Amino acid sequence: MHEKVRINSADVKYTEKHIESRYCYHTASVRRDGDTFTVTPSSTEFIFRTERKVPRLGVMLVGWGGNNGTTVTAAVLANKLGLTWKTKTGLKKANYYGSLLESSTVCLGSSPDGEVYAPFRDLLPMVHPNDIVFDGWDISSLDLGRAMERAQVLDWSLQEKLWPHMSQLKPRPSVYIPEFIAANQEHRADNLIRGSKAEQVAQIRRDICDFREKSGVDKVLVLWTANTERFCDVIPGVNDTAENLLNSIQMGREVSPSTMFAVASVLEGCAYINGSPQNTFVPGAVDLALQRGVFIGGDDFKSGQTKLKSVLVDFLVSTGIKPTSIVSYNHLGNNDGLNLSALQQFRSKEISKSNVVDDIVQSNPVLYRPREKPDHCVVIKYVPYVGDSKRAMDEYTSEIMMGGTNTMALHNTCEDSLLASPIILDLVILTELCQRITFCTQDDPVFQGFHSVLSLLSFLCKAPLVPQGAPVVNAFFRQRACIENVMRACLGLPPQNHMQLEHKMT
Ligand code: NAI
Repeated sequence: MHEKVRINSADVKYTEKHIESRYCYHTASVRRDGDTFTVTPSSTEFIFRTERKVPRLGVMLVGWGGNNGTTVTAAVLANKLGLTWKTKTGLKKANYYGSLLESSTVCLGSSPDGEVYAPFRDLLPMVHPNDIVFDGWDISSLDLGRAMERAQVLDWSLQEKLWPHMSQLKPRPSVYIPEFIAANQEHRADNLIRGSKAEQVAQIRRDICDFREKSGVDKVLVLWTANTERFCDVIPGVNDTAENLLNSIQMGREVSPSTMFAVASVLEGCAYINGSPQNTFVPGAVDLALQRGVFIGGDDFKSGQTKLKSVLVDFLVSTGIKPTSIVSYNHLGNNDGLNLSALQQFRSKEISKSNVVDDIVQSNPVLYRPREKPDHCVVIKYVPYVGDSKRAMDEYTSEIMMGGTNTMALHNTCEDSLLASPIILDLVILTELCQRITFCTQDDPVFQGFHSVLSLLSFLCKAPLVPQGAPVVNAFFRQRACIENVMRACLGLPPQNHMQLEHKMT
């Protein structure tokens, strides 16, 4: 195994199996008296271990025949095959733009020629997206060739080149419980697992084993990119503990299809990621993941409007400007939009999109009183003509100095599935990497992995799932810094501090 980034330090060891780093984690505790603060710094010695061997990764998508499912599969195939295709603006080449890991860089330090940047993917041994093997389920029986055509996302000349490969791929039958997704989806549902809830979960588990065996992959992750479901009520005795949830599946009580997939994955020891907004991770599902030590992550891909919001509000509040009103309109014409045109499914999305500014607002008591928030409104409309090319229009109104007002109006054409697909890749590659990282401290010398609720994925999610009691971070640059600095810790490197003191001395 030859890493592209190698650390030359007494704190880092390369053994046959691991990269092992000694790392000093600095933090601080604070006591507050009125408007004075007493800050006590502290530090903890960690040892991080990252397994160097990268496994062959299999990814099973729930909703494989949808716009995201077909687009991510097609994009990986096109990259693997090195495809080029012509459009009216010239020759295009397959790439992974929009992937944090594949297409963004991190600063490693300086050389005589200036600062040196490396691709994020080269920091630690990671799965390359070209090597991912896909499989999955869909309630619609179309093969992936015809499903890609239905999605209307990729240029036709590219679809023609991909057709022989995509049309060989066929989604496995799935669980359909009509009351969870919009009634307008019913016509797609022709590829179903029959039987009781317990039998359906057992079938999903068999599918995972079958895929693992037949494809020869070392590891399987499961990701939900199927339609947005309505929220589930959290009911004591039904879904509040792992035991009750498993019982409810046996008894055929209310459990959503996405939660059934989560349960099946966790029981098979496969990490499960939720790319949609619904509350798949009812307390019983989280409890089960914790008991089994399996990663879960989500919720809802952060791809377009919300991503921009988590940048813009971060920028405004951190420069001392006070956003007072944020109004967001979307219209889209793909099947996701059709599903979201039903009230209960829209409500799931509205909730997921609504809390994204909370942590940023709460971080600034100079601008906001306790519990004060900007007005925040989200509207989504289904307009078939625009297809997958979602339009997001936002108005941000802020209070500036001396009673002044600053208004920004934005128009963002999102090409939804082309923005979501690289995020799917980042989610699974990052999750797989986290499965190979363990750490210990002086006080607790037994090596452990990250908490089952994998909050490191927050950067990629609209409504980040975090361990109970942990703060939710939506602010874009804090989320990105978290991933970068955790990887740097695995290499014994201090957090990126951007101080550049060497250039500030006389
Ligand atoms: P889509 O509607 O094109 O695809 C969803 C697929 O799921 C369909 O093929 C449908 O037949 C299938 N499906 C529905 N219920 C199923 C079940 N129980 N089991 C298996 N398959 C099932 O939607 P798209 O655009 O691919 O989006 C997928 C999800 O990702 C949606 O929930 C959407 O809200 C979410 N999302 C998408 C973003 C984006 O595209 N930029 C951003 C954030 C979230």
